[in-house]
Amino acid sequence: MTYNEINFNKKTILITGGAGFIGSNLAFYFQENYPKSHVVVFDCFRSEVTLTNGNLQSFGHYKNLIDFKGDVVCGNINNKVDLSLLDDYKFDYIFHQAAISDSRVYDQELVMQTNVNSFYDLLYIAKRDRSVMVYASSAATYGSLPSPQVVGTESPENPYDYSKYAMDQIACRYMKQNPEMSIVGLRYFNVYGPKEYYKAKTSSMVIQLGHQILDGKAPRLFEGSDKILRDFINIEDVIQANIKACNPKQNGVYNVGTGKSRSFQDIVDILQQELGTDLGTDYFPNPYAIYQMHTQADITTTQTSLGFKPRVTLEEGIKNYILEIRRLHQMPND
Ligand SMILES: NC(=O)c1ccc[n+]([C@@H]2O[C@H](COP(=O)([O-])OP(=O)(O)OC[C@H]3O[C@@H](n4cnc5c(N)ncnc54)[C@H](O)[C@@H]3O)[C@@H](O)[C@H]2O)c1
Repeated sequence: MTYNEINFNKKTILITGGAGFIGSNLAFYFQENYPKSHVVVFDCFRSEVTLTNGNLQSFGHYKNLIDFKGDVVCGNINNKVDLSLLDDYKFDYIFHQAAISDSRVYDQELVMQTNVNSFYDLLYIAKRDRSVMVYASSAATYGSLPSPQVVGTESPENPYDYSKYAMDQIACRYMKQNPEMSIVGLRYFNVYGPKEYYKAKTSSMVIQLGHQILDGKAPRLFEGSDKILRDFINIEDVIQANIKACNPKQNGVYNVGTGKSRSFQDIVDILQQELGTDLGTDYFPNPYAIYQMHTQADITTTQTSLGFKPRVTLEEGIKNYILEIRRLHQMPND
């Protein structure tokens, strides 16, 4: 599936965070649709370092890249020597996905260094190489603001949210100072789909609830989950946004969601229908004092400036994902 007129064949493409969920999907997208493109994945992969919340510091996994035929560079975006490994290339496009992607990491120094400082270095490479820069921001920048979330009104509530907000501000300054550059930030809402499995507890509720059901258990939801709404966006539409962001009518920061919100209860109901189960739901109290109850992206500018048009409904996205959810349920969680 191609999304615009750009021919990425013979282009050199950097994907930071390319061993992770969105980055590895991008890597395979280019491999499959533009087999003559030269794709370079840069990722620190996972070490055994865990953070105080019990999660791994980084989620990149080699299994996301099996069958990937491009270059793989293992490096840390916080390390200038590692980044210098990229000096041998001249990139036409940079898709910057690498980050502490776990929004419940509270080590401010680590989050800011990884997500923000490295962004200056990546922007420098983009300027040096005259690359098109597309980077991952987040709907988390909106905190608990009411829906619809609109670019320009943000309210970050934790270090992760703030780090993405800081990236957006840096990007906007950089766009003004370097009007010849193409720079687009994409505020992903709740992304789900294949290759998210190795994010473990930080993967989407689609796969987590799917695996609870396949364990034969009633899926667990917070009380009142029929009224906890999110804008769930399928990975295919996230790829579409990244590709369309390479040819923007205007540099900027754009929401990437469907523009519709659905409940966690909807996910459970669709999963049970697709998996042919009737296990009910196990409700428990929401332990979080601060919790976003409703997200729904305003995608007006994403449509007008990028030509983005979400295609995959939650029903279709889950239906297409079911076989993979089943396959992964059989896998050892390593
Ligand atoms: N998945 C979502 O729903 C979602 C929503 C909003 C924003 N985002 C953003 O999208 C981007 C991709 O997210 P994802 O869901 O694919 O997460 P992910 O954790 O699967 O991918 C991030 C990748 O970055 C790598 N990484 C982390 N720290 C690094 C470092 N110091 N040096 C080099 N590599 C490093 C990890 O190993 C991992 O492969 C992230 O920037 C994330 O914040 C994701």
